[in-house]
Amino acid sequence: MPVNTESDTPELPGSFSLRVSDPRTGHDYELPVEHGTVRATALGQVRAGEDDPGLATYDPAFKNTANCISRITYIDGDRGILEYRGYPIEELAGTTSYLDTAWLILNGELPTPDESRVWAAEIAARAGVPDPLPRMLEGFRADGHPMAIFIALLAGLGAMHPESKAVADPAVRAEHVRRLIAAAPTLAAMAYRHGRGLSVVPPREDLSLPANFLNMVFGGEGSGYKPDPVLERAMDVLFVLHADHEQNCSTSAMRGVGSSHADPYSSAAAAAAALYGPLHGGANEAVLRMLDEIGSIEGIPAFMDSVRRGERRLMGFGHRVYKSYDPRARIIKRTAYEVFEVTGKNPKIDIALELERIALGEEYFVKRRLYPNVDFYSGIIYEALGFPVGLFPVLFAVPRMSGWLAQWDEMLGDREQKIARPKQIYLGPAKRPVPA
Ligand code: CMC
Repeated sequence: MPVNTESDTPELPGSFSLRVSDPRTGHDYELPVEHGTVRATALGQVRAGEDDPGLATYDPAFKNTANCISRITYIDGDRGILEYRGYPIEELAGTTSYLDTAWLILNGELPTPDESRVWAAEIAARAGVPDPLPRMLEGFRADGHPMAIFIALLAGLGAMHPESKAVADPAVRAEHVRRLIAAAPTLAAMAYRHGRGLSVVPPREDLSLPANFLNMVFGGEGSGYKPDPVLERAMDVLFVLHADHEQNCSTSAMRGVGSSHADPYSSAAAAAAALYGPLHGGANEAVLRMLDEIGSIEGIPAFMDSVRRGERRLMGFGHRVYKSYDPRARIIKRTAYEVFEVTGKNPKIDIALELERIALGEEYFVKRRLYPNVDFYSGIIYEALGFPVGLFPVLFAVPRMSGWLAQWDEMLGDREQKIARPKQIYLGPAKRPVPA
């Protein structure tokens, strides 16, 4: 199936070769270096003899392996830089709406005013979900975790769009990218309402995406709910900050599952499942539970002792890529105070600030280069906005949908990509007979 049609590996200036000597054979090899990487397959030529499969690389958890060429998101973890398509996150958040940011991530450029209007209308028109989905919701217990429900609804929505399996067709891909971006807030709101025993609130086309989301969560007929513009804007900023983050665990899941040419709903459900974990998007929930457990400023020393002893992690701290301040955390911290102007202060911010102050001055954290990440302050805002803790990872997944889909689309257009299939080092028993 000719899915991959767009990009070739670009030539970069500064390419050079490594010379590698194999002491077993005395042979020298030239290993080309491009973009600061050696192709792992180039090592395959380093063989001791005819039967030798050749050298491979071993990199558990992909700590030093690039899995793709991407043109979407750039991170400089040492300098705390995050850019979507070259635009700094600090400039996008607050000036560009989430929907325009999603367009940027997907298409490479910000939309013109006309494109923006059409795009917003296209998304709004697709925000409703087909009838069987609310009935599917009824099958879940009210205390089921909202993220588990969200993942199931996503996969369930795929069952209603079998035509989305035609992933080789760019027009089909484009249609279901729209449908998924539009459906994500609706499914998230459904997961929330189910947990509260409330009926589903249908989407409204006359509201912005964040206002519509707030209305589907907290509004409904006779509620008199009207999204506050400050909170609508804060929601939009949070969505922009979470839209993409290059090759993290959930995006790798999206690319990995999508590489088998699964439909985008199944791939997105897999990505959401990866996001659920407390080391990834579930950290925002874990932070709030941690702050609850600490309880007050007085509870901090005992908690920090347990972190120093290696018994606990300070959730919302540390990152595989950021080895200085996560730029998203800085913006979120600022946004929290804008939200508090409307909602009143969430007292947990004081515990979080004190934890940050202590951690940034402590050898344990300094030595390991652990700083607050995106999840450290986001939960405090979500709680102030009235969302229950279990919904926090879902709130992360809603905007990340745009990043997952952009990365998925890029992967399917990349001629170099094939089904993801890592190697292993087999150290189990050698062949032996089954005991009689
Ligand atoms: N609290 C205490 N110690 C930590 C923490 C933490 N939050 N994070 C890392 N460490 C220590 C870890 O114990 C290890 O110490 P040692 O070298 O003595 O064994 C060292 O720092 C390196 O940690 P690692 O687990 O090898 O680092 P990693 O790159 O594999 O993990 C991480 C990155 C984000 C999973 C990790 O920092 C962590 O678990 N943080 C808490 C969970 C969290 O906030 N996750 C959200 C990440 S940002 C949102 C997103 O994923 O998109």
